[in-house]
Amino acid sequence: MKDILQDLDDRRADARLGGGEKRIASQHAKGKLTARERVELLLDEGSFEEFDMFKAHRCTDFGMEKQRPAGDGVITGWGTINGRMVYVFSQDFTVFGGSLSETHAEKICKIMDMAMQNGAPVIGINDSGGARIQEGVASLAGYAEVFQRNIMASGVVPQISLIMGPCAGGAVYSPAMTDFIFMVKDSSYMFVTGPDVVKTVTNEVVTAEELGGASTHTKKSSVADGAFENDVEALAEVRRLVDFLPLNNREKPPVRPFFDEPGRAESSLDTLIPDNPNQPYDMKELIHKIADEGDFYEIQEAFAANIITGFIRLEGQSVGVVANQPTVLAGVLDIDSSRKAARFVRFCDAFEIPILTLVDVPGFLPGTSQEYGGVIKHGAKLLFAYGEATVPKVTVITRKAYGGAYDVMASKHLRGDFNYAWPTAEIAVMGAKGATEIIHRADLGDADKIAQHAADYEARFANPFVAAERGFIDEVIVPHSTRHRVSRAFASLRNKQLTNPWKKHDNIPL
Ligand code: HXC
Repeated sequence: MKDILQDLDDRRADARLGGGEKRIASQHAKGKLTARERVELLLDEGSFEEFDMFKAHRCTDFGMEKQRPAGDGVITGWGTINGRMVYVFSQDFTVFGGSLSETHAEKICKIMDMAMQNGAPVIGINDSGGARIQEGVASLAGYAEVFQRNIMASGVVPQISLIMGPCAGGAVYSPAMTDFIFMVKDSSYMFVTGPDVVKTVTNEVVTAEELGGASTHTKKSSVADGAFENDVEALAEVRRLVDFLPLNNREKPPVRPFFDEPGRAESSLDTLIPDNPNQPYDMKELIHKIADEGDFYEIQEAFAANIITGFIRLEGQSVGVVANQPTVLAGVLDIDSSRKAARFVRFCDAFEIPILTLVDVPGFLPGTSQEYGGVIKHGAKLLFAYGEATVPKVTVITRKAYGGAYDVMASKHLRGDFNYAWPTAEIAVMGAKGATEIIHRADLGDADKIAQHAADYEARFANPFVAAERGFIDEVIVPHSTRHRVSRAFASLRNKQLTNPWKKHDNIPL
């Protein structure tokens, strides 16, 4: 018996070594942790339960039968994050460059199937040279099995991808179908084809970092939702994100203990809006002052910063925040900000996370580049997302709510539950100057008359009361009471029941 136990110990020790000491040292030399070190940091200490530690590939081509490392380049299993269950896979770059073989894919599929059956999130740590070249189509089939599961799991359990090394070819499409992608600066990249192929096909000379590094994907392409300095920070931040999320779409998000007064008044908010309506102010100040303990987890901070998306807690409950940001492009809605916010709203709705919308929006961005880029369709995504969302929706208009953007930003008409406005709100078809120049075109040559018309228009429409008279605004609230009012509103909506008509699925403008 002792020998048998010793044999198990030896086999385990061998599996834990992955591709061997030399390759582990090389991984560390690149500033990267090993697959196992990452799992240990991601999960609560001692909580990891591994599956398929001894699974090996079945390939017999190219001499592969002589190299059959236990585990086949991916570590899979489950554990807990702050006591809540998650499934995890972590690709081991020291074993065939973390490349995906048929058996490697089977291991990932097994934990994805279990995550679906048991209702827990899947966190994938990607560090892989893509399809295992020696396996050919068997490896491509393995990818497709993973893809199909990503699709089935979408909206059922949260799926989070960490990119912690190369992620090339078809390998990018599994992360692309997950809810959130996080990268590590300077050591991770994602692209469909690498710099060499790009050079051959398009003659462009580009580095891997420029083509698919963290900066590219968080600032330009919006493929990734955040970038962190190193593996340790990325893993810690994913733990923080998981705390905001429910385990699956049948559960409510977790309620955390909170140490902040729900009725906390913030007198500084009474002077947040500048006297000059064209002067910006930082909407993040309002978000921080509303949130429990000022804690805000921002998603896609570096992309389309004219809209802010992320999570806060109110009375310990997770709330998704969507807010126009007047400091960037005056908070205008455009293609990028509409797409960013629409995806976020749909994530919140899929996972029963209530949505707080803070509005200061001068409208949609005009111009040929926006029209040629399809702002109509992209703007409609956000409209559609808000309109179909059945989660509790509370909206606060702080200043401008002009035109179609007023409708889009979780207005009463899109089934907003509580629509509040500050007394500084201006709810109108457009700003006074633009409106005057259209409806008083005949007076355009007379500056005094135009100024008078603009002043009249402002006096009539640059306030929340016209909308409040119609019941489109439920209440005009004083800014310092915003946290109190919003917290109470969400508290009253905890048992909200609203369902959309039966359909196979909708046809959101893509
Ligand atoms: C098998 C692979 C591999 C792969 C790397 N390795 N990629 N083995 N299949 N796809 C092995 C290497 O042979 C090497 O083994 C070890 O992993 C480390 O690789 P290096 O090249 O030494 O590392 P590095 O210099 O850091 O470069 C990493 C890399 C490069 C950029 C990922 O290895 C690379 O370009 N790999 C190929 C990428 C690729 O074209 N993949 C196919 C994409 S197409 P030893 O024994 O020396 O340690 C695809 C289709 C999927 O994925 C479609 C699904 C729909």
